[in-house]
Amino acid sequence: MFLDCCPMITNGLETISQTWMRLTLDTIADCGFGLKSESLTRKDDECLVNCRNVIRDTTKRPILFMLGFMFPTLHAVWIAIYNVLRHVTFNPVFWLQDTMTTIIKERKMKLEQRVDLLQLMLTSEFNPSANKIDVGDVDFNDNVVKKRILTNEELSAMCLLFLLAGYETTSTTLAYIMYELVVNPDVQLKLQNEIDHFFPEDTEDSPAFYHIISRMEYLDMVWCETLRKFPLASTVVARQCMETCTVRGIRIPSGMIIQANVWDIHYNQDLWGEDTERFIPERFTQERRKTRHPMAWLPFGGGPRTCVGLRLAQLEGKMAICKLLKHYSFIPSDKLDVPIKCIEGATIIPKHGVPLTAIPR
Ligand code: HEM
Repeated sequence: MFLDCCPMITNGLETISQTWMRLTLDTIADCGFGLKSESLTRKDDECLVNCRNVIRDTTKRPILFMLGFMFPTLHAVWIAIYNVLRHVTFNPVFWLQDTMTTIIKERKMKLEQRVDLLQLMLTSEFNPSANKIDVGDVDFNDNVVKKRILTNEELSAMCLLFLLAGYETTSTTLAYIMYELVVNPDVQLKLQNEIDHFFPEDTEDSPAFYHIISRMEYLDMVWCETLRKFPLASTVVARQCMETCTVRGIRIPSGMIIQANVWDIHYNQDLWGEDTERFIPERFTQERRKTRHPMAWLPFGGGPRTCVGLRLAQLEGKMAICKLLKHYSFIPSDKLDVPIKCIEGATIIPKHGVPLTAIPR
Protein backbone atom coordinates (compact mmCIF):
# COMPACT_ATOMS: atom_id res chain seq x y z
CA MET A 1 0.00 0.00 0.00
CA PHE A 2 2.88 2.35 0.72
CA LEU A 3 3.90 2.18 -2.95
CA ASP A 4 0.83 4.32 -3.61
CA CYS A 5 2.56 7.08 -1.64
CA CYS A 6 5.38 7.42 -4.21
CA PRO A 7 3.51 9.83 -6.52
CA MET A 8 2.94 12.06 -3.48
CA ILE A 9 6.69 12.03 -2.79
CA THR A 10 7.43 12.97 -6.38
CA ASN A 11 4.84 15.76 -6.32
CA GLY A 12 6.41 17.13 -3.13
CA LEU A 13 3.21 16.47 -1.15
CA GLU A 14 5.11 14.44 1.39
CA THR A 15 8.68 13.39 2.14
CA ILE A 16 9.92 9.82 2.18
CA SER A 17 10.48 10.18 5.95
CA GLN A 18 6.74 10.75 6.39
CA THR A 19 5.88 7.75 4.24
CA TRP A 20 8.21 5.53 6.26
CA MET A 21 6.70 6.75 9.51
CA ARG A 22 3.24 5.79 8.31
CA LEU A 23 4.43 2.35 7.24
CA THR A 24 6.35 1.53 10.42
CA LEU A 25 3.61 2.81 12.70
CA ASP A 26 0.95 0.65 11.07
CA THR A 27 3.32 -2.34 11.27
CA ILE A 28 4.21 -2.10 14.97
CA ALA A 29 0.68 -1.10 15.97
CA ASP A 30 -0.70 -4.18 14.22
CA CYS A 31 2.04 -6.72 15.06
CA GLY A 32 2.38 -5.38 18.58
CA PHE A 33 -1.06 -4.85 20.00
CA GLY A 34 -3.82 -4.71 17.44
CA LEU A 35 -3.95 -0.96 17.79
CA LYS A 36 -6.04 0.42 14.96
CA SER A 37 -3.66 2.68 13.10
CA GLU A 38 -4.56 3.52 9.53
CA SER A 39 -1.83 5.99 8.92
CA LEU A 40 -0.96 4.64 5.47
CA THR A 41 -4.39 5.54 4.18
CA ARG A 42 -5.22 8.46 6.47
CA LYS A 43 -2.68 11.23 6.90
CA ASP A 44 -4.51 12.66 9.92
CA ASP A 45 -4.77 9.30 11.69
CA GLU A 46 -5.04 10.06 15.43
CA CYS A 47 -2.48 7.46 16.42
CA LEU A 48 0.06 8.75 13.87
CA VAL A 49 -0.42 12.36 14.88
CA ASN A 50 0.02 11.55 18.57
CA CYS A 51 3.05 9.29 18.09
CA ARG A 52 4.66 11.91 15.89
CA ASN A 53 4.01 14.57 18.51
CA VAL A 54 5.56 12.47 21.27
CA ILE A 55 8.75 12.20 19.26
CA ARG A 56 8.61 15.83 18.19
CA ASP A 57 8.25 16.92 21.82
CA THR A 58 11.59 15.35 22.61
CA THR A 59 13.28 17.63 20.07
CA LYS A 60 11.36 20.65 21.37
CA ARG A 61 11.79 20.00 25.10
CA PRO A 62 15.11 18.19 25.32
CA ILE A 63 15.88 19.52 28.81
CA LEU A 64 13.04 17.67 30.55
CA PHE A 65 13.77 14.61 28.44
CA MET A 66 17.50 14.69 29.23
CA LEU A 67 16.87 15.35 32.93
CA GLY A 68 14.78 12.18 33.03
CA PHE A 69 17.69 10.27 31.57
CA MET A 70 20.32 11.87 33.78
CA PHE A 71 18.42 11.51 37.06
CA PRO A 72 16.31 8.36 36.74
CA THR A 73 16.01 8.03 40.52
CA LEU A 74 13.90 11.19 40.48
CA HIS A 75 11.36 9.53 38.21
CA ALA A 76 8.54 10.37 40.63
CA VAL A 77 9.32 14.06 40.10
CA TRP A 78 9.30 13.78 36.30
CA ILE A 79 6.03 11.86 36.38
CA ALA A 80 4.53 14.49 38.66
CA ILE A 81 5.61 17.27 36.24
CA TYR A 82 4.06 15.39 33.34
CA ASN A 83 0.88 14.82 35.33
CA VAL A 84 0.60 18.55 35.96
CA LEU A 85 1.27 19.30 32.30
CA ARG A 86 -1.49 16.84 31.44
CA HIS A 87 -4.08 19.19 32.91
CA VAL A 88 -2.52 22.33 31.47
CA THR A 89 -2.02 21.12 27.93
CA PHE A 90 -2.94 18.04 25.90
CA ASN A 91 -0.14 15.49 26.12
CA PRO A 92 0.00 12.81 23.42
CA VAL A 93 1.83 10.38 25.76
CA PHE A 94 -1.25 10.17 27.93
CA TRP A 95 -3.53 9.69 24.95
CA LEU A 96 -1.38 6.71 23.91
CA GLN A 97 -1.21 5.34 27.42
CA ASP A 98 -4.99 5.54 27.84
CA THR A 99 -5.48 3.82 24.48
CA MET A 100 -3.11 1.03 25.51
CA THR A 101 -4.86 0.60 28.85
CA THR A 102 -8.20 0.17 27.08
CA ILE A 103 -6.74 -2.43 24.70
CA ILE A 104 -5.18 -4.36 27.60
CA LYS A 105 -8.42 -4.37 29.55
CA GLU A 106 -10.35 -5.63 26.53
CA ARG A 107 -7.82 -8.39 25.97
CA LYS A 108 -7.95 -9.45 29.58
CA MET A 109 -11.72 -9.67 29.31
CA LYS A 110 -11.02 -11.79 26.20
CA LEU A 111 -13.07 -9.50 24.02
CA GLU A 112 -10.48 -9.97 21.31
CA GLN A 113 -7.94 -12.76 20.63
CA ARG A 114 -4.94 -12.12 18.42
CA VAL A 115 -1.42 -13.36 17.85
CA ASP A 116 0.78 -10.41 18.69
CA LEU A 117 3.24 -9.07 21.21
CA LEU A 118 0.68 -8.06 23.78
CA GLN A 119 -0.99 -11.46 23.60
CA LEU A 120 2.40 -13.11 24.21
CA MET A 121 2.88 -11.03 27.32
CA LEU A 122 -0.60 -11.86 28.55
CA THR A 123 -0.33 -15.56 27.71
CA SER A 124 2.97 -15.94 29.51
CA GLU A 125 1.36 -14.28 32.48
CA PHE A 126 -1.67 -16.51 32.62
CA ASN A 127 -0.31 -19.81 31.31
CA PRO A 128 -0.93 -22.19 34.23
CA SER A 129 1.29 -24.95 32.80
CA ALA A 130 4.37 -22.73 32.56
CA ASN A 131 6.86 -23.08 35.34
CA LYS A 132 7.95 -19.50 35.37
CA ILE A 133 4.76 -17.66 34.71
CA ASP A 134 5.63 -14.26 35.96
CA VAL A 135 8.10 -11.49 35.56
CA GLY A 136 11.17 -11.88 37.73
CA ASP A 137 12.50 -9.08 39.88
CA VAL A 138 16.02 -9.62 41.13
CA ASP A 139 16.55 -8.47 44.65
CA PHE A 140 20.18 -7.42 44.70
CA ASN A 141 20.49 -7.83 48.45
CA ASP A 142 19.73 -11.53 48.66
CA ASN A 143 19.95 -12.38 44.94
CA VAL A 144 16.50 -13.90 45.03
CA VAL A 145 14.22 -13.80 42.02
CA LYS A 146 10.78 -12.75 43.20
CA LYS A 147 7.96 -13.68 40.90
CA ARG A 148 4.94 -11.55 40.29
CA ILE A 149 2.60 -10.72 37.44
CA LEU A 150 2.77 -7.58 35.34
CA THR A 151 0.39 -4.87 36.45
CA ASN A 152 -1.83 -3.12 33.90
CA GLU A 153 0.34 -0.04 34.33
CA GLU A 154 3.50 -2.01 33.51
CA LEU A 155 1.86 -3.68 30.54
CA SER A 156 0.72 -0.36 29.11
CA ALA A 157 4.17 1.17 29.73
CA MET A 158 5.79 -1.76 27.88
CA CYS A 159 3.35 -1.43 24.99
CA LEU A 160 4.05 2.28 24.80
CA LEU A 161 7.79 1.63 24.81
CA PHE A 162 7.45 -0.94 22.04
CA LEU A 163 5.28 1.38 20.01
CA LEU A 164 7.59 4.36 20.24
CA ALA A 165 10.83 2.36 20.06
CA GLY A 166 9.57 0.36 17.12
CA TYR A 167 8.12 3.01 14.91
CA GLU A 168 10.40 6.01 14.84
CA THR A 169 13.73 4.18 14.86
CA THR A 170 12.86 2.01 11.89
CA SER A 171 11.38 4.82 9.82
CA THR A 172 14.38 7.07 10.48
CA THR A 173 16.77 4.28 9.48
CA LEU A 174 14.86 3.91 6.22
CA ALA A 175 15.04 7.66 5.65
CA TYR A 176 18.84 7.59 6.08
CA ILE A 177 19.08 4.63 3.70
CA MET A 178 17.19 6.64 1.08
CA TYR A 179 19.52 9.58 1.64
CA GLU A 180 22.58 7.42 1.04
CA LEU A 181 21.00 5.80 -2.02
CA VAL A 182 20.31 9.11 -3.74
CA VAL A 183 23.73 10.60 -3.00
CA ASN A 184 25.43 7.33 -4.02
CA PRO A 185 23.59 6.34 -7.24
CA ASP A 186 26.11 3.55 -7.91
CA VAL A 187 25.06 1.90 -4.63
CA GLN A 188 21.38 2.32 -5.53
CA LEU A 189 21.95 0.64 -8.90
CA LYS A 190 23.93 -2.21 -7.37
CA LEU A 191 21.17 -2.77 -4.82
CA GLN A 192 18.49 -2.73 -7.52
CA ASN A 193 20.49 -5.34 -9.44
CA GLU A 194 20.52 -7.57 -6.38
CA ILE A 195 16.79 -7.08 -5.85
CA ASP A 196 16.08 -7.91 -9.52
CA HIS A 197 18.25 -11.01 -9.20
CA PHE A 198 16.39 -12.32 -6.14
CA PHE A 199 12.96 -11.10 -7.24
CA PRO A 200 12.93 -11.39 -11.05
CA GLU A 201 9.15 -11.02 -11.30
CA ASP A 202 7.85 -9.00 -8.39
CA THR A 203 8.32 -8.75 -4.68
CA GLU A 204 5.14 -10.68 -4.04
CA ASP A 205 4.30 -11.36 -0.40
CA SER A 206 5.10 -14.97 0.30
CA PRO A 207 6.41 -17.05 3.17
CA ALA A 208 9.65 -17.35 1.16
CA PHE A 209 10.18 -13.60 1.43
CA TYR A 210 11.87 -13.95 4.82
CA HIS A 211 14.36 -16.57 3.56
CA ILE A 212 15.12 -14.69 0.37
CA ILE A 213 15.78 -11.44 2.21
CA SER A 214 18.20 -13.16 4.59
CA ARG A 215 20.30 -14.27 1.57
CA MET A 216 20.64 -10.75 0.15
CA GLU A 217 24.18 -9.81 1.16
CA TYR A 218 24.41 -6.40 -0.46
CA LEU A 219 21.11 -5.29 1.06
CA ASP A 220 22.46 -6.25 4.46
CA MET A 221 25.70 -4.33 3.81
CA VAL A 222 23.72 -1.20 2.88
CA TRP A 223 21.56 -1.60 6.01
CA CYS A 224 24.59 -2.02 8.30
CA GLU A 225 26.65 0.78 6.76
CA THR A 226 23.70 3.19 7.06
CA LEU A 227 23.39 2.37 10.75
CA ARG A 228 27.14 2.77 11.18
CA LYS A 229 26.97 6.28 9.76
CA PHE A 230 23.72 7.10 11.58
CA PRO A 231 23.39 5.26 14.91
CA LEU A 232 20.23 7.26 15.49
CA ALA A 233 19.24 5.71 18.85
CA SER A 234 22.63 6.16 20.50
CA THR A 235 21.13 8.32 23.27
CA VAL A 236 19.59 5.28 24.93
CA VAL A 237 22.73 3.15 25.02
CA ALA A 238 23.40 3.83 28.68
CA ARG A 239 23.86 1.80 31.83
CA GLN A 240 23.76 2.54 35.54
CA CYS A 241 26.77 1.41 37.53
CA MET A 242 25.58 -0.90 40.34
CA GLU A 243 28.87 -1.22 42.22
CA THR A 244 31.75 1.23 42.43
CA CYS A 245 34.57 0.05 40.17
CA THR A 246 37.62 1.26 38.28
CA VAL A 247 37.86 0.79 34.52
CA ARG A 248 41.20 1.64 32.89
CA GLY A 249 42.09 3.95 35.74
CA ILE A 250 38.73 5.75 35.80
CA ARG A 251 36.74 5.36 39.01
CA ILE A 252 33.03 4.88 38.40
CA PRO A 253 30.92 5.34 41.55
CA SER A 254 27.87 3.24 42.21
CA GLY A 255 24.71 4.83 40.79
CA MET A 256 26.44 6.79 38.03
CA ILE A 257 24.89 6.62 34.55
CA ILE A 258 27.41 5.87 31.81
CA GLN A 259 26.48 6.56 28.22
CA ALA A 260 28.34 4.83 25.40
CA ASN A 261 29.81 7.26 22.88
CA VAL A 262 28.48 5.31 19.92
CA TRP A 263 29.07 8.02 17.29
CA ASP A 264 32.78 8.27 18.18
CA ILE A 265 33.11 4.49 18.01
CA HIS A 266 31.37 4.39 14.62
CA TYR A 267 33.68 7.07 13.22
CA ASN A 268 36.85 5.73 14.84
CA GLN A 269 39.47 5.43 12.13
CA ASP A 270 41.35 2.66 13.93
CA LEU A 271 38.24 0.51 13.64
CA TRP A 272 36.83 1.61 10.27
CA GLY A 273 39.71 3.09 8.28
CA GLU A 274 40.46 6.70 7.31
CA ASP A 275 37.38 7.37 5.22
CA THR A 276 34.74 7.07 7.96
CA GLU A 277 32.65 9.93 6.51
CA ARG A 278 32.15 7.99 3.28
CA PHE A 279 29.34 5.51 2.70
CA ILE A 280 31.04 2.21 1.86
CA PRO A 281 28.77 -0.87 2.23
CA GLU A 282 31.78 -3.13 1.54
CA ARG A 283 32.95 -2.49 5.08
CA PHE A 284 30.44 -5.23 5.91
CA THR A 285 31.66 -8.09 3.74
CA GLN A 286 31.84 -11.36 5.69
CA GLU A 287 35.66 -11.21 5.65
CA ARG A 288 35.87 -7.65 6.99
CA ARG A 289 33.26 -8.27 9.69
CA LYS A 290 35.39 -11.09 11.12
CA THR A 291 38.37 -8.83 11.66
CA ARG A 292 36.43 -6.20 13.61
CA HIS A 293 35.83 -5.91 17.36
CA PRO A 294 32.32 -7.24 18.19
CA MET A 295 31.43 -3.95 19.92
CA ALA A 296 32.57 -1.76 17.01
CA TRP A 297 29.02 -1.62 15.58
CA LEU A 298 26.46 -0.56 18.17
CA PRO A 299 23.33 0.90 16.53
CA PHE A 300 21.22 -1.57 18.53
CA GLY A 301 23.31 -1.34 21.68
CA GLY A 302 24.97 -4.47 23.01
CA GLY A 303 24.98 -7.13 25.70
CA PRO A 304 21.94 -8.62 27.42
CA ARG A 305 19.87 -5.41 27.06
CA THR A 306 20.45 -5.06 23.34
CA CYS A 307 17.45 -3.97 21.22
CA VAL A 308 14.71 -6.61 21.30
CA GLY A 309 13.22 -5.35 18.05
CA LEU A 310 16.39 -5.74 15.97
CA ARG A 311 15.07 -8.61 13.85
CA LEU A 312 11.66 -7.08 13.33
CA ALA A 313 13.20 -3.77 12.28
CA GLN A 314 15.62 -5.51 9.94
CA LEU A 315 12.97 -7.66 8.27
CA GLU A 316 10.45 -4.87 7.96
CA GLY A 317 13.02 -2.34 6.71
CA LYS A 318 14.58 -4.68 4.19
CA MET A 319 11.19 -5.78 2.84
CA ALA A 320 10.16 -2.16 2.39
CA ILE A 321 13.39 -1.25 0.58
CA CYS A 322 13.04 -4.26 -1.76
CA LYS A 323 9.47 -3.40 -2.66
CA LEU A 324 10.23 0.25 -3.19
CA LEU A 325 13.39 -0.13 -5.28
CA LYS A 326 11.80 -2.85 -7.38
CA HIS A 327 9.30 -0.31 -8.66
CA TYR A 328 11.03 3.05 -8.31
CA SER A 329 14.42 4.72 -8.66
CA PHE A 330 15.20 7.83 -6.66
CA ILE A 331 17.07 11.06 -7.28
CA PRO A 332 17.71 13.92 -4.83
CA SER A 333 15.39 16.91 -4.80
CA ASP A 334 17.15 20.29 -4.91
CA LYS A 335 15.90 20.85 -1.34
CA LEU A 336 17.93 17.92 0.01
CA ASP A 337 20.63 18.85 2.53
CA VAL A 338 23.96 17.40 1.36
CA PRO A 339 25.60 16.60 3.68
CA ILE A 340 22.50 15.83 5.65
CA LYS A 341 21.73 17.98 8.71
CA CYS A 342 20.60 16.12 11.83
CA ILE A 343 18.71 17.15 14.93
CA GLU A 344 18.81 15.38 18.28
CA GLY A 345 15.80 14.41 20.39
CA ALA A 346 14.83 10.94 21.53
CA THR A 347 16.58 9.85 18.34
CA ILE A 348 18.79 11.66 15.88
CA ILE A 349 16.70 12.50 12.82
CA PRO A 350 17.26 14.35 9.52
CA LYS A 351 16.50 18.00 10.33
CA HIS A 352 14.61 18.71 7.09
CA GLY A 353 13.57 15.18 6.19
CA VAL A 354 14.92 13.59 3.03
CA PRO A 355 13.31 15.36 0.05
CA LEU A 356 13.72 13.31 -3.11
CA THR A 357 11.97 12.40 -6.32
CA ALA A 358 10.64 8.95 -7.20
CA ILE A 359 10.88 7.79 -10.83
CA PRO A 360 8.90 4.66 -11.86
CA ARG A 361 11.23 1.99 -13.27
C1 HEM B 1 16.39 0.29 13.15
C2 HEM B 1 15.56 0.26 14.17
C3 HEM B 1 15.95 0.25 15.61
C4 HEM B 1 17.06 0.77 16.22
C5 HEM B 1 18.23 1.50 15.57
C6 HEM B 1 16.95 0.48 17.63
C7 HEM B 1 17.90 0.81 18.59
C8 HEM B 1 17.81 0.46 19.92
C9 HEM B 1 18.84 0.73 20.90
C10 HEM B 1 20.16 1.44 20.64
C11 HEM B 1 18.41 0.25 22.09
C12 HEM B 1 19.17 0.29 23.43
C13 HEM B 1 19.99 -1.00 23.56
C14 HEM B 1 21.04 -0.95 24.65
O1 HEM B 1 20.93 -0.15 25.56
O2 HEM B 1 21.99 -1.75 24.58
C15 HEM B 1 17.10 -0.31 21.88
C16 HEM B 1 16.33 -0.90 22.87
C17 HEM B 1 15.03 -1.32 22.66
N1 HEM B 1 14.38 -1.42 21.47
FE1 HEM B 1 15.09 -0.91 19.65
N2 HEM B 1 15.77 -0.19 17.85
C18 HEM B 1 15.13 -0.35 16.65
C19 HEM B 1 13.93 -0.98 16.43
C20 HEM B 1 13.09 -1.47 17.41
C21 HEM B 1 11.81 -2.11 17.20
C22 HEM B 1 11.18 -2.37 15.83
C23 HEM B 1 11.30 -2.40 18.43
C24 HEM B 1 9.99 -3.04 18.82
C25 HEM B 1 9.50 -4.08 18.30
C26 HEM B 1 12.27 -1.99 19.41
C27 HEM B 1 12.11 -2.13 20.76
C28 HEM B 1 13.10 -1.88 21.70
C29 HEM B 1 12.94 -2.11 23.14
C30 HEM B 1 11.67 -2.63 23.82
C31 HEM B 1 14.16 -1.78 23.74
C32 HEM B 1 14.50 -1.84 25.23
C33 HEM B 1 15.19 -3.17 25.49
C34 HEM B 1 15.62 -3.35 26.95
O3 HEM B 1 15.80 -2.36 27.65
O4 HEM B 1 15.79 -4.49 27.36
N3 HEM B 1 13.35 -1.44 18.75
N4 HEM B 1 16.76 -0.19 20.55
